[in-house]
Amino acid sequence: MPKNLDDNSTYNMRQVKYRNSVAKVLILGTVFLFALFNPVMAQDEAATAPVVATSGGDIAKGEALFKSLCAACHKRYKKMTGPALFGVTERHSTEWLYSWIKNSAAMVAAGDAEAIAIYEEYNKTAMNAFPQLTNTDIDDILAYVSVPKAAPAPVVGQAPVGSGGDASGGVSSTVILGLLALVFLMLVVVLFLVNKTLRRFAELNGLQIPENEKRTPIWKAFVQNQFLILVSTVFLLLVSGYFVYGFFMQVGVDQGYQPIQPIHYSHKIHAGDNKIECKYCHSSARVSKTSGIPSLNVCMNCHKSISEVADATATEEYSKSFYDGEIQKLYKAVGWDADSQSYTGKSEPVKWVRIHNLPDFAYFNHSQHVSVAGVECQKCHGPVEEMEIMYQYAPLTMGWCINCHRETNVKVEGNAYYDKIHEQLSKKYGVDKLTAAQMGGLECGKCHY
Ligand code: HEC
Ligand code: HEC
Ligand code: HEC
Ligand code: HEC
Ligand code: HEC
Ligand code: HEC
Repeated sequence: MPKNLDDNSTYNMRQVKYRNSVAKVLILGTVFLFALFNPVMAQDEAATAPVVATSGGDIAKGEALFKSLCAACHKRYKKMTGPALFGVTERHSTEWLYSWIKNSAAMVAAGDAEAIAIYEEYNKTAMNAFPQLTNTDIDDILAYVSVPKAAPAPVVGQAPVGSGGDASGGVSSTVILGLLALVFLMLVVVLFLVNKTLRRFAELNGLQIPENEKRTPIWKAFVQNQFLILVSTVFLLLVSGYFVYGFFMQVGVDQGYQPIQPIHYSHKIHAGDNKIECKYCHSSARVSKTSGIPSLNVCMNCHKSISEVADATATEEYSKSFYDGEIQKLYKAVGWDADSQSYTGKSEPVKWVRIHNLPDFAYFNHSQHVSVAGVECQKCHGPVEEMEIMYQYAPLTMGWCINCHRETNVKVEGNAYYDKIHEQLSKKYGVDKLTAAQMGGLECGKCHY
């Protein structure tokens, strides 16, 4: 052992002792953190179910072929226009499948008993012929359809239809709060230990720490200084005035309002990624005062055949199984049985939570703004095509309406309705272009009944 260490042995031992207790706290904390995170990690692993290869074909190639040629009528585990194809290799011989897929109509015409039975079972719906496929291609497809269904991954916070409950984030926020509390606790303990250690060192070095030093307490010094009191009172009054004013101006203003809807419906996926026109669903915006929420029949135009989302649609926040679950809620609400591809007749209304809502004494008309004035939906509703969850973008206050009427020119070109009035008003104001305000857009009676 080196000599200099021996010399300071008492000092070193002390230091090591205190460092050890700090280390203990840190290690305990880390272990606790791991224990917290482990269940989360285990869940993630369970979610990625293993893919089992069965027959000789190439599953990836088969998937591509299946999606481009067969997916319009077939699913692997569910009946659609055609039968579910999982397990089809057990129902028929490979040779039979080769010739069926290449040309099923020919087999039916030739009187193949197996072929006729299926053909009749499916109400004589003819399947397309695929003479272009080689036997290897078909092997690939069969390999893909023979992959067993993965165990359903745990669905994140699936709330029942209409419950309006918190659909996500419940777990993570408790975890985060727990972590914060833990970090805070560790900080307190570490600070306490540091304090204790420093005191020890001070004592070792022969320093005296005065317990109650004599000096004027801060509050006394403050009370004695009148100028300081005056300044702080004025300051306090101004601040509270500011907040009180802000509070009253916010009454009835719901900018940013973002309720949880009974079905997680994503404008980002529909209007953004899939470029569906706003007016496809909100069709009355063009012709009437209100814009309206589409009926579920509109949804079913597409969702009869879209019963789940593509893998690529899933995000870190919203898993594929979460989205698929939301489409199931839609089916439950309209009473659609995806297995038999028919309506059960048992439907229940979806109680969408209304987001934009003017008070009853104000009049707003969509068609006037959308069709006549040609204002984009986004001007008032914000970047809807990027909203995973819809929220109120504009404040919808009177000042907001009026400002826009002051700034926005009326579209008079090619609008015979305005020809005469435009001429008269232009003369009156001596301008070329008229704003909505000059047309009368600031008159109280236009917006108030
Ligand atoms: C236009 C819709 C349509 C397309 C596209 C289609 N099928 Fe079919 N398929 C059917 C129908 C309908 C049946 C049921 C039999 C019938 O009515 O002809 C069927 C039956 C089958 C069967 C027999 C299933 C059984 O359980 O007996 C197989 C196998 C099959 N299809 C494979 C394929 C493959 C592979 C593709 C893609 C290369 C494909 N189908 C594309 C509509 C289609
Ligand atoms: C596929 C149908 C569909 C399309 C396309 C669509 N929406 Fe919607 N929209 C809905 C549904 C369903 C709701 C009610 C659920 C919600 O608020 O998320 C809604 C709600 C809204 C709301 C809030 C209504 C309220 O309660 O105040 C606004 C605003 C809106 N959509 C604007 C748009 C705009 C702008 C576009 C085009 C960029 C668009 N929507 C495209 C179906 C659609
Ligand atoms: C024009 C076709 C079309 C219409 C109409 C339509 N959808 Fe969709 N929907 C889609 C497509 C495409 C996807 C995404 C599929 C993917 O990403 O793989 C989707 C995905 C979904 C999802 C899963 C993702 C999400 O948004 O949470 C839900 C739920 C859904 N739609 C509900 C509805 C509802 C409710 C309506 C009616 C208001 C509706 N859809 C109308 C085409 C449509
Ligand atoms: C000039 C601003 C403006 C434009 C442009 C506009 N909206 Fe609105 N929108 C509003 C206001 C304000 C409300 C609240 C109306 C109410 O409560 O009476 C609203 C409400 C809605 C609602 C809720 C249901 C309803 O009718 O009250 C939907 C859905 C909607 N808008 C969709 C659209 C779509 C789709 C477009 C584009 C075609 C559009 N809006 C264009 C201002 C606008
Ligand atoms: C994005 C700009 C914009 C916003 C925001 C807006 N408006 Fe307008 N508004 C217009 C334009 C442009 C016209 C002129 C339309 C025309 O050519 O008749 C108009 C016209 C009107 C008219 C008819 C005026 C007349 O002289 O006949 C009424 C009523 C009206 N708006 C009410 C509202 C209300 C209520 C709000 C707020 C909730 C609002 N607007 C918000 C742009 C806007
Ligand atoms: C362009 C449309 C428009 C015009 C013009 C208009 N208002 Fe308003 N007014 C509104 C809207 C929208 C609200 C509701 C605002 C809210 O909910 O915060 C409102 C609210 C009000 C309120 C309730 C207090 C408040 O701010 O919520 C009063 C009072 C009022 N308006 C008076 C008037 C008078 C007086 C005039 C004529 C000088 C007038 N308004 C002209 C759209 C208009």
